[in-house]
Amino acid sequence: MTSVTNRPLLVTCGLPYANGPCHIGHLRTYIPADIYVRCLKKLRQSPLFVCGSDTHGTPIVINAEQQGTTPEKFAAYYHRYWKDTFKALSVDFSHYGNTDAPTNYFRTQEIVKALQENGYIYPLVIRLAYCPECDRFLPDRYVEGVCLFCGMPARGDECDQGCGRHLEPGEVVDPKCKTCGASAEYREEKHFFFKLSAFKDFLSTYLETLGGTANARNYAREWVTNELKDWCITRNLSWGVPFPGTDLVVYVWVDAPIGYVSFTEEATSTWEDYWKKESNIIHFIGGDIIYHHAVFWPALLKGANYTTPAAVVASGMVKVDGETFSKSRGHVVWVDDDYLDHGFHPDLLRYYLAGYTSHTKELNFSWKVFGEKVNRELVGSLGNFIYRTLLFAYKNFGRVPEAPVDGAIIERIAATREKMVSALKEYEFKKLVDAAMSLSDFGNAYFQSKELWNLVKSDKAACAREVKNCIQLVKALAVLLEPVMPSTMRRVQAQLGLTSTYFSDATVEVEPLRLSQPALPFTKIDEKKIVELEITLGRRMAGGSQKAPANEARATEATVELEDFKKMDLRIARIVEAETVKKSDKLLRITLQLGDETRQIVAGIARDYPPEELIGTDVLVLANVRPANLMGVESHGMLLAAEYEGRAVLIRPSQKVPSGTRIR
Ligand code: 2FM
Ligand code: ZN
Repeated sequence: MTSVTNRPLLVTCGLPYANGPCHIGHLRTYIPADIYVRCLKKLRQSPLFVCGSDTHGTPIVINAEQQGTTPEKFAAYYHRYWKDTFKALSVDFSHYGNTDAPTNYFRTQEIVKALQENGYIYPLVIRLAYCPECDRFLPDRYVEGVCLFCGMPARGDECDQGCGRHLEPGEVVDPKCKTCGASAEYREEKHFFFKLSAFKDFLSTYLETLGGTANARNYAREWVTNELKDWCITRNLSWGVPFPGTDLVVYVWVDAPIGYVSFTEEATSTWEDYWKKESNIIHFIGGDIIYHHAVFWPALLKGANYTTPAAVVASGMVKVDGETFSKSRGHVVWVDDDYLDHGFHPDLLRYYLAGYTSHTKELNFSWKVFGEKVNRELVGSLGNFIYRTLLFAYKNFGRVPEAPVDGAIIERIAATREKMVSALKEYEFKKLVDAAMSLSDFGNAYFQSKELWNLVKSDKAACAREVKNCIQLVKALAVLLEPVMPSTMRRVQAQLGLTSTYFSDATVEVEPLRLSQPALPFTKIDEKKIVELEITLGRRMAGGSQKAPANEARATEATVELEDFKKMDLRIARIVEAETVKKSDKLLRITLQLGDETRQIVAGIARDYPPEELIGTDVLVLANVRPANLMGVESHGMLLAAEYEGRAVLIRPSQKVPSGTRIR
């Protein structure tokens, strides 16, 4: 960490592409970065925290085309979406910009010109994929083919299914046009290259002292030891920052990181203190873009006489239910549709993501673990300690008692704070959360061991002292955990009337004050809810459903084509058998009569309907949903039910109709 210097401190997060909604994989970077910045502020530092939408590049142009809109409108929609989403998750940037803004055009062109003047850009005639049908060159994602290096299917500038290499134009073998499917041919055209190879010595030295996480440093060192290839930094596209003096645009991986500079510029008139003088620039990124941030980007900055980053903090991968994260295969948890829209508080997810594992290790997301962590750790330990302490004080004293806090309690809090600060220096957010949570466990054990409910009867003055000790621990937790769970901890702080909430205040004795009836900081998540979410995720993973459909639709209009509705095979079915699924108290295995056909389905309604009461009744099913496997039982259809007050209410026909009857 950079706390000891007085240099201007800038923290950034990798820019999300403005081409789709937020998923839990994204948050692995943004939430720890936000916690980091909030902690620095609690340590009386003044970091500037910038990010913005990455609006250029071919995937956005292609998606916009597919949605029948322009890249401007498409990217503008997702830019607003990301801004709102960060707000909803309490990710509090000092400024959130957009790479399609004039500041970024200006700064990108200025940096490109500086690189040209310094001799780091050269023209070269290269062979590029060209579609004779569409009569155009095919940049990046417009081309599909095979990776030159590993032979796996590759898309444009990235071998995303094979070796993971960044692919230069011409390195996709057997190219096909993504738009019309025709075989592309290679044609020659003049492009511009950035002389990355000239920075080998600089990068070797630079990486010796690069701060941040070891994964970023180590990967980068390995790459720099091998050959560094020059990067083609121009593209044949009309969407992007024009490359000075040509019809080409700048490659998105040039104007995106330059966004870090232009967003600083938009945030403060002193931007040059960060980018032209000695400063501390810390980039939080996903582990998949280390090359861009620890090799390409510092070389670009150095070549244009800008300040290079002091640290690169790269987060580990995210898995979903033990499976590698993949949007196309449906191994994804969407932040709106799967989380916020279900009414979950963002603080719970912040806690899960920060406290699950080391920042650089793989994080697995599962609803089961989420439910357990919330119910056991937040409700059972932290919430329980805060609530029982405040309630006991309120009921028995009506106020924070006037009594001194034991030195041992203050020392225990100070030791926790020290552990948290050293965890922060290592970018180890799990250690930080664990230190605070063990203070909460200590609080619970302390409350229990003092038997306050007896002490209040036998010795009220002694009880007042112990209550004061417990309240001091509550104060410390509310202060130290605020960066992790800002809105929940601020509510606790308000109950204690805290006005100063720096980390140093954790050991300052809590003021005597009248208490009001406390509120529960956290509420238990119903297991039924977790099962419902597991079922939704299980179906998606089995069926490979792509994106959060609602969000995709919202990008244009929130309507469904009649043709799409007609694809659903909705029918009346009769239940002929029903039994609970082994080892599950929520799932029923149901046999349905569907006209002449018999079907097995699995439905999460065991808590709402005893199986014997279902037999012989008629229900509504979606018969052509992709089959799924739930707790080892195959399901070939989906029961439709209304969700009412947390329970499933089956939908039935208003009069008897033959089983198999279609719904229109
Ligand atoms: O990989 C990504 O999602 C990119 N949009 C990150 C860009 S970060 C930076 F360099 F701008
Ligand atoms: Zn490859």
